[in-house]
Amino acid sequence: MPLVDMPVKSTSPSDLEPIEKASRDEIAALQLQRLRATLARAYENVAHYRQAFDAAGVHPSDLKQLTDLSRFPFTVKSDLRNNYPFGMFAVPREQVVRVHASSGTTGKPTVVGYTQNDIDTWAHLVARSIRAAGGRRGDIIQISYGYGLFTGGLGAHYGAEKLGCTVIPMSGGQTEKQVQLICDFEPRIIMVTPSYMQVILEEFARQGLDPKQSSVQIGIFGAEPWTEAMRLEIEGKSGMDAVDIYGLSEVMGPGVASECIESKDGPVIWEDHFLAEIIDPDTGAVLPDGSEGELVFTSLTKEALPMIRYRTRDLARLLPPTSRAFRRMSKIVGRSDDMLIIRGVNVFPTQIEEIVLQHEHLSGQYQIHVSRHGLLDEVEVRCELQPASALAGEAQRREIAAWAQQRIKTMVGISTRVLVMSPDSIERTLVGKAKRVFDQRPK
Ligand code: DLL
Repeated sequence: MPLVDMPVKSTSPSDLEPIEKASRDEIAALQLQRLRATLARAYENVAHYRQAFDAAGVHPSDLKQLTDLSRFPFTVKSDLRNNYPFGMFAVPREQVVRVHASSGTTGKPTVVGYTQNDIDTWAHLVARSIRAAGGRRGDIIQISYGYGLFTGGLGAHYGAEKLGCTVIPMSGGQTEKQVQLICDFEPRIIMVTPSYMQVILEEFARQGLDPKQSSVQIGIFGAEPWTEAMRLEIEGKSGMDAVDIYGLSEVMGPGVASECIESKDGPVIWEDHFLAEIIDPDTGAVLPDGSEGELVFTSLTKEALPMIRYRTRDLARLLPPTSRAFRRMSKIVGRSDDMLIIRGVNVFPTQIEEIVLQHEHLSGQYQIHVSRHGLLDEVEVRCELQPASALAGEAQRREIAAWAQQRIKTMVGISTRVLVMSPDSIERTLVGKAKRVFDQRPK
């Protein structure tokens, strides 16, 4: 990006780490060297990888160039579950200074571990992410991601401290207190799920406060899919800059990729620590940059839990570098697990979100309920009036519902029943990831 066009909010080039402005050749050389070491470490220390590589007839020494990685087998969530709890660790358990775990909908949680070096790298990358979002040493940061086994709270916390910020470890929930601390401690930055940010903004309104008058200038949002429409909604209501942070526990936690405030054009993948591929989810074939497919990550520096070609189930595209030397990813379209197939049409909750947020009288709260009557799938989209539109009469609600039904039919291609409900009637998620889809169809 030419310097003259850089808005004031951007990071000055002198503040960037050398690798953030390196040439593509330098980045590729570093990746190759780190990838070789990672494959060797995984093969030598983790029984699962040794068996999987042997079964696929590949050996770490077969990797001569980065594209050779496509010959190596994928790792999936069930590999971690099958080796529960510590079987995938590549170091003796005594060297693991921290574990985190994510609970799936069924069965045992997925356990991940970190050596001290892993924790340091993670903090470094979250610090880099906060800086990309416009954060600086000395800023006050409220962290409203949940603390505990979830990687959001502690991951953000260590990164913010590393950058030299004053951290308010608020965690999720206690919405009134969230607002009180923002008013009293005056953080410049908040790190939280976008859906919970909406709830906090509603609480401001409930207390008769204008979030635009608050100290918060930057929101660093992730842990769940959110759309450009949601960015505009939050920015419009709060006056803050909303940027996207991406990550997953299996690969590290928050800060695998993060967006730059000056371009807001998708999270920059920290390619010095992670190698990204996009694959066709059905065939596993590697797709060229720009194609939509499933994101696959290989860790390049992790010690406790090296991840080789981890299939994230997240659907996105890889994009060329802009504000940094690294490639970016598009916003996540959705998880393949969350994709609904309605009478043969693939539907992502984010597509419904985009439409709901286009209507001035609708808040960004919505739920998708799917049921089956006879052989047919039926979809009910529940959305909610903005508090200011609470007095809308039956006729006006029907009109809004008809508008949304029509829009969904045209843009997404499915017939739905849209229910326009009173403000605050959709249950909010106060801790963790927003649940948007309720699928009652028989499995
Ligand atoms: O959600 C890590 C995280 C915490 C990221 C806080 C950002 C902020 P998991 O609980 O393992 O880890 O869930 C990972 O969440 O595969 C995506 O499906 C989804 N996800 C995470 N960040 C984003 C994002 C954390 N920015 C899963 N956009 C991932 C869309 C996201 N989806």
